[in-house]
Amino acid sequence: EKSGYTHFMLKEIFEQPQAILNTFRSRIDPEHGQLCLPELGLSDRDIKGIGRIVLLACGSSWHAALVAKYWLEQWVGIPVEVDIASEFRYRRLLLDKNVLVIPITQSGETADTLAGTRLALKSGAKVVAICNVLGSTITREVHGTLYTHAGPEIGVASTKAFTCQLVALFLLTLYLAQVRGTMASRERLTMIESLVELPVVLERELPGWQEEMERLAEEFVKSRDFLFLARGENFPIALEGALKLKEISYIHAEGYAAGEMKHGPIALIDRDMPVLALVPQNGVYDKVVANVEEVKARHGRLILLGSRGDANIGRIADHVVYLPVILPDLNPILYTVPLQLLAYQVARLRGCDVDQPRNLAKSVTVE
Ligand code: M6R
Repeated sequence: EKSGYTHFMLKEIFEQPQAILNTFRSRIDPEHGQLCLPELGLSDRDIKGIGRIVLLACGSSWHAALVAKYWLEQWVGIPVEVDIASEFRYRRLLLDKNVLVIPITQSGETADTLAGTRLALKSGAKVVAICNVLGSTITREVHGTLYTHAGPEIGVASTKAFTCQLVALFLLTLYLAQVRGTMASRERLTMIESLVELPVVLERELPGWQEEMERLAEEFVKSRDFLFLARGENFPIALEGALKLKEISYIHAEGYAAGEMKHGPIALIDRDMPVLALVPQNGVYDKVVANVEEVKARHGRLILLGSRGDANIGRIADHVVYLPVILPDLNPILYTVPLQLLAYQVARLRGCDVDQPRNLAKSVTVE
């Protein structure tokens, strides 16, 4: 049931604070800054022996994997590869028992992700799935499953399942860092505190974002194309924002690493091209600002999502959406939500079938 919401997608967007809370609640001890993830089925010895991590997934789940690469390499110091499952399954895999393979799938039934998982199991690698559906096919085959507790997701566009995958991957990062001793316990405590704060922040911001995104959507409802830009751990969120928009509103959209602009896409910029960039005040802030200034110089229509209190971005952009300042590592989760709402509002104004977009199925069980 939609509980008064016009679409399942909107309901699921608004369920995110609760879904995120459910995903981390039983796994952290906020008082002592400790994590506990026995469901991984990995001993401390297994974890200390990991030489490489391979993440594989499709669609939005692949975007979650791309964010996790930044977190894991930064905080655990293990090299991470990210593969699209349909690519992974048709190339030579150099796996062995010291590789941890992590398939990520909301449904647990995606054909390519399952096939890739089976190859990984055969190679002798350790395989731990991140999945939302209890007892789904993948969970019956892998060594362990870290469940996202997002609850059933009906809308074809992944929303709460995606942000909960990010939460699960963040917990996994902190846990591996804890066992391998790669992060000071004080730092881990700070990160856990910020994670605990996140549902509160989202709950508070959601109604305002909904209104702001409705206004933005009115202005851009007729656009033919859209470019999403970001850098660092937020770059995959540019991909996710573009995927959301194209799948439910049928507007052509691309996500790009902002630094790649000058290697091609900048040729597309003119007065009709909306460019949305994520510019939170983090380590690559100056770089992204320099990139979007180039968009402005070419008269692109610039929308910036950045930090509340940033006095600079308002001067460059046609539209600014201010988001609260949180732990930078968690920005990928925070910045996803207004992009979901933007896609939703645009699709709604265009009269699209938001929950059941054309040509798409909720789970892709054929190759
Ligand atoms: O169930 P899965 O997570 O394996 O599904 C993967 C993709 O099919 C899925 O994320 C798809 O891209 C969504 N429609 C995105 O909104």
